[in-house]
Amino acid sequence: MPTIQTIQNSIVLLRADLNLPSLKDDARVIATLPTIKLLLQNHNKVVLITHWGRPEGFEPKWSTSNMVNLLKARLQQEVEFIDQYQSMELAKQQIATSNCRVFILENTRFDPREQSKDEQKRTELASKYTILGDVFVDEAFAVSHRREATNCELKKMLPNCLGLNYQQEIDNLNRIKFSPEHPYIVIISGNKIETKLPLVEKFLDKADYILIGGMICFTFIEGKKQLLWEQGKSPDLESLPDLKDSFIETDFLPRAKDLLKNYGAKIVLPIDFAYHQTEDGKVLAYDVGNKTIEYFSDFLKDCKTVFWNGPLGFYEMPPFNHGTVEIAKFLTHQTDCYIVTGGGDINSAVPSEYLEKFSWVSTGGGATLEYLSQ
Ligand code: 3PG
Repeated sequence: MPTIQTIQNSIVLLRADLNLPSLKDDARVIATLPTIKLLLQNHNKVVLITHWGRPEGFEPKWSTSNMVNLLKARLQQEVEFIDQYQSMELAKQQIATSNCRVFILENTRFDPREQSKDEQKRTELASKYTILGDVFVDEAFAVSHRREATNCELKKMLPNCLGLNYQQEIDNLNRIKFSPEHPYIVIISGNKIETKLPLVEKFLDKADYILIGGMICFTFIEGKKQLLWEQGKSPDLESLPDLKDSFIETDFLPRAKDLLKNYGAKIVLPIDFAYHQTEDGKVLAYDVGNKTIEYFSDFLKDCKTVFWNGPLGFYEMPPFNHGTVEIAKFLTHQTDCYIVTGGGDINSAVPSEYLEKFSWVSTGGGATLEYLSQ
């Protein structure tokens, strides 16, 4: 099998994850550049393959032709768009005869077989791509938790290896997965308790404390209040903040209460909030408050490993990004701490001046969480 360093004079099918949240957020392009540059340096042609969004059939706004200018600017290279859906044979000729050295194929998800549950259909589709190149490089860590034709099946059909970013993802995530230095703190935040509860459950075994923010903390706080009432204690004495009209996912209350009963000392919840009044008069917690920032910082002060998933508040609407920004700033002063972020928009919520000081900023969302929690 080749290695990324030994591939030379070849046409390389580079499966990237350029599933950009928007054309302004090019972090995943930046993460792929070192691999593209190395391959170009070693006299290869590079054919970029990626999905983008969740289109149903052909949808112009998800066409990867929209990314060409961005790629040209970042690479400082000509980049040619190729629509493989016209004809794979023509695409092959275009790649072979063009003077250009970087190509991008059309969005792989325009063909429903890309994500088919039927392995045979995915295999049939992947086999069509094989004529386009000699070697396959997997640089799509962020989609490694999905079974798609061009990241799973195509790989089996050609000599292949991992790209530089994929390898770094594994190396960095393995460090916190297998040998985290303690104290190890995980911050889990976000909206959907359905997707976050299994994570909390999995990390409870590995981490010393789990700090919970975002909308999911409301259900935990309500659960804690109920537990205290059931034990004949007054919740107010435990400095539990007022949820006002914030949304509690009642279906998940029993599970949250179970976790609190069994691992209460490890689960750390906000002690105050910053509220926002909506047009219909509801008062909702939109961010953690200043006391919580201090309280969370106390836990983070002497820790050696941090994994942070999801912003603590409604970061898209300042000033409700305050909690996330302050905790990020605090972490940048922790010199002896290995800090990894990934998933749930955390990399968009933290200002880049802080993000660049962290040990590893994972390109993955679901993929990172799945990898770490297995
Ligand atoms: C991601 O952005 O997490 C990956 O590209 C996977 O995208 P998906 O959730 O649409 O499958």
